[in-house]
Amino acid sequence: GSGARDRLRIAIQKSGRLAEPARALLTSCGLSWRESRDRLFCYGESLPIDLLLVRDDDIPGLIRDGVCDLGVVGRNVLLEQDIAVRREREASVFRELRALGFGGCRLALAVPEGWEWRDPSQLAGKRIATSYPQILQQWLDGQGVQAGVVELSGSVEIAPKLGQADLICDLVSSGATLAANQLKPVMTLIESEAVLAGPVAAFDDARGELAELLLRRLDGVLRMRH
Ligand code: PRP
Ligand code: ZN
Ligand code: MG
Repeated sequence: GSGARDRLRIAIQKSGRLAEPARALLTSCGLSWRESRDRLFCYGESLPIDLLLVRDDDIPGLIRDGVCDLGVVGRNVLLEQDIAVRREREASVFRELRALGFGGCRLALAVPEGWEWRDPSQLAGKRIATSYPQILQQWLDGQGVQAGVVELSGSVEIAPKLGQADLICDLVSSGATLAANQLKPVMTLIESEAVLAGPVAAFDDARGELAELLLRRLDGVLRMRH
């Protein structure tokens, strides 16, 4: 069709924890780009595979809208937006193609250090601050617990001190941020790491073969790293 594309476009995080390891992994797969550090678009040199540098939270939407073909993003972000999509359209539009073995963390409930934690029934009527309202609400529904979900886009760990919430549901990696805010993790909702995400629908042009080539190389690199 007229929309046929012969270059593959991959979205990665512009800056943050996944940015450097994502670029390094793709470089290990033999990709190189015409250098343009501050440009948000990097033109592929060794292969027709370009990079788009964006906010990680925007990656699932870019794939959904066909602006990008693949993306490197945390499973947590992908799952959060997948739940929202499925609530609307009853079918997923993106999927996890490969787990990439870096950016490991967990999405956990954390409570003020003074709390004595027993089980999820204690959450009834409490306010929980999170950047992952969909995952949290789905989990609460599964537990049969009614709690308030307070959506914040960042600095979630400060919410209990500010009186915005009683506890939080946020990502824990080293645990340093929780400890610094006198919170302790009590339940893990999901284990996460960086993943390669793509659309559910197959590519019907040259991008299909490019994606297959990339996946073969990626599997080789991931096996070597293991
Ligand atoms: C993440 C996450 C936690 C923190 C956890 O935030 O939201 O706040 O890291 O890491 P730790 O357990 O090692 O302390 P990040 O710094 O990536 O910023 P963001 O929330 O703005 O994405
Ligand atoms: Zn983010
Ligand atoms: Mg944070």
